[in-house]
Amino acid sequence: MSETATQRLTADPEGIARAAELLRDGQLVAFPTETVYGLGGNALDDRAVAGIFEAKGRPSFNPLIVHLADLDAVKELVQWSDLADVAAQVFWPGPLTMVLPIREGAKVSKLVSAGLDSLAVRMPASPVARTLLRECGCPVAAPSANRSGRISPTRAEHVLETLDGRIAAVLDGGPCDVGLESTILGLTGKPTLLRPGRVTAEFLSEALGRPVMERRDRDQISAPGQLASHYAPNARVRLNASEWHEGEARLGFGRTEGDCDLNLSPAGDLVEAAANLFEYLHRLDSSGAEVIAVMPVPHVGLGVAINDRLSRAAAPRG
Ligand code: TXA
Ligand code: MG
Repeated sequence: MSETATQRLTADPEGIARAAELLRDGQLVAFPTETVYGLGGNALDDRAVAGIFEAKGRPSFNPLIVHLADLDAVKELVQWSDLADVAAQVFWPGPLTMVLPIREGAKVSKLVSAGLDSLAVRMPASPVARTLLRECGCPVAAPSANRSGRISPTRAEHVLETLDGRIAAVLDGGPCDVGLESTILGLTGKPTLLRPGRVTAEFLSEALGRPVMERRDRDQISAPGQLASHYAPNARVRLNASEWHEGEARLGFGRTEGDCDLNLSPAGDLVEAAANLFEYLHRLDSSGAEVIAVMPVPHVGLGVAINDRLSRAAAPRG
């Protein structure tokens, strides 16, 4: 999180170049898309992505949408398919997000997909967003640029109302055209509308030549990440461990008495801990241990989201 005032950049070549430089550098920059303003961070950078959650004050790690400038960049991150290709030809660049299986070895931060094996990708149409994405040369993770629980911003002023002082810059490109978040099309199985938007289910069905199912469970639409089972490691997770038991994989936080296998943040920094969380859970899980014991993480700031995720990982399996 930046402690200083947020720079307001005009969306001219100079301002866009500066915004691109900040993003490459791991800083947070709000930028206009045709739907709403996004709160952007370098999707390859764990700390930048953790910073997005901190700036938003989100109490949980919802998976984020990755914004890209061109199809080649998209195909490096997700498993492309014929259906995705048709949708891209008709609707990209534009207000459509596709959820596809993530590619093995894709370099995006695990925090972006909140540990899921799918990834949401979108190629925005706004010329300012496109230029910015081309210039920064990295995939950009961006939820709507508002504090958690507030309405999505369609002007730079809206962004500053809730995020001034919490992000490095806002790129002011004037009001957004659509004013409603992108449609989300799930393509990990049968085509499914995960979030309605400007691109309707009818448009999609027609373009794809097959029905697009509408998700009925509203809670799952807004928060697929809320399903405990999405995050369950194979190992059992033991929370608030104050001592280690024989044979457990040991996940520490802050200063530890004795050894742990991995430490989320030896310095007790919650942003660092969030950045490491999914990666470390994966690593300890693949060590084959039956139990992963986790030291307590303070329940403040980003710690709330970290504990939310840890308690889902520890929840009994249904
Ligand atoms: O128009 C938009 O899409 C804006 C602009 C900035 O691009 N972004 C946006 O992001 O609305 P956000 O974070 O507010 O919404 C992301 C949505 C969430 O509902 C999330 O659950 C869903 O995308 N999502 C992301 N990754 C997913 C995945 N792997 N599977 C299912 N849903 C996913
Ligand atoms: Mg939002």
